[in-house]
Amino acid sequence: MALSEDEKMPVPQHIAIIMDGNGRWAKNRGLPRTAGHKAGGETFRRIANYCREIGVKYLTVYAFSTENWKRSTEEIGGIMLLLERYLKEALRDMEKNGVCFRFFGDLSRLSPKLRKLCEDTEARSSQYHEVQVNFCLNYGGRDEIIRAARAFAADVAAGKRSADSLTELEFENYLDSAGVPDPELVIRPSGEQRTSNFLPWQSAYSEFVFMNVLWPDFMPEHLDEAIAEFYRRNRRFGGA
Ligand code: IPE
Ligand code: IPE
Ligand code: MG
Repeated sequence: MALSEDEKMPVPQHIAIIMDGNGRWAKNRGLPRTAGHKAGGETFRRIANYCREIGVKYLTVYAFSTENWKRSTEEIGGIMLLLERYLKEALRDMEKNGVCFRFFGDLSRLSPKLRKLCEDTEARSSQYHEVQVNFCLNYGGRDEIIRAARAFAADVAAGKRSADSLTELEFENYLDSAGVPDPELVIRPSGEQRTSNFLPWQSAYSEFVFMNVLWPDFMPEHLDEAIAEFYRRNRRFGGA
């Protein structure tokens, strides 16, 4: 039986996750790193479904960073292939899932085929609103800010904006996340305790939860645990 609105546990409106630990998960099993990414992809499906079930409105996931191009050609190829397969599946099951997709990051470096899949997924899913998944692909927070600054400078040069009157709110419109509220909660599994260039602007006031579980092993219970930790904290900031 579905829970009524009153019976549902409170959840943050926007959760962001650094999907880390795929490589170690594979290594622990004597498998190639790509097997870890495949398992990580399954975890993403599981967690995105769970977020939709519990009423999270925005889920932002770090899938591939601007730094990840330093990895072996084989590993990068494997990740890109998994992404292609996932997006084809998302396009096929769009109506059933009701997920709206957005992509954060510089897509110009992706293969034309993958970029087209991203664009099609974004365009065709914009009519769905059950949950919005923001996929960070070739994403780096500093790169995002630089691209935004360039776009703003171009508008100033074109006489559409004035440099002196720029506000934080206005600048946000130039970021990949334009129109998306900031994440209240950022989760990093895998035991690493750094943010690796993930949403530096948007997470200025987010609560961070670092967890000792590798992403492929991350279960809905881990998300519950992170949400419970979030609500245990006293979210008092800025003022008195
Ligand atoms: C995260 O897992 C996935 C990507 C960065 C694409 P990793 O591949 O970084 O896994 P670890 O950190 O090596 O275990
Ligand atoms: C961050 O994980 C990027 C993604 C999860 C896509 P990394 O494994 O690439 O980050 P570092 O190298 O530990 O900082
Ligand atoms: Mg890693």
